[in-house]
Amino acid sequence: MTYQIGYLVGSLATGSINRTLSKALIASAPDDLEFTEIPIGNLPLYSWDYDADFPPEGRQFKEGIESSDGLLFVSPEYNRSIPGALKNAIDWGSRPWGQNSFARKPTGIIGASPGGVGTAVMQSSMRSVLSFLDAPQLNAPEAYITYTPEDFGENGSVTNESTAKFLRHYMEEYCAFVQRVLAANAPGHI
Ligand code: FNR
Repeated sequence: MTYQIGYLVGSLATGSINRTLSKALIASAPDDLEFTEIPIGNLPLYSWDYDADFPPEGRQFKEGIESSDGLLFVSPEYNRSIPGALKNAIDWGSRPWGQNSFARKPTGIIGASPGGVGTAVMQSSMRSVLSFLDAPQLNAPEAYITYTPEDFGENGSVTNESTAKFLRHYMEEYCAFVQRVLAANAPGHI
């Protein structure tokens, strides 16, 4: 069976190392997963003034979340937290009240930074936000990637064998997690 995974890159930068990481993750994933990016850069800043009549960008974003079997967040850490553009997108997806698009969606959170913290603090904030939004998260393995340019090529190649092995393992575990959550969400499952 094939599962549709929507992925969100938390950086708007053209040279984003997290976009490079997203390509490596897609290339490392089991064939059961198909990936579509859910863009975040075209969304206006959220306000609940929009709740009465969401603009096309907001509707399209929510449709992207809702039509995905699972979500993968690939994001930098900015100032020890979630980048503003990504938090803004999550706020769009969570509203209008009572129409939270993230509810019961299996999610994975991963990120790269040049430093040793490897986005751990951002991921902690994301877990808090996604828990509030009732989105189950892959708990293990955790994935804090310290980014070294020599290890990653464009188009998803990973030259460091240890990193390549870890990314394959992460995506296998993520795939199994998506399957488990979807099975638990299925009608009739207790
Ligand atoms: C950073 N960076 C950073 N790194 C980190 O490990 N922890 C942090 O809190 C921050 N804070 C931070 C704030 C802002 C505004 C910027 C622009 C950068 C460095 C960051 O990891 C590095 O620039 C990465 O290249 C960002 O990922 P993308 O945007 O290239 O995917």
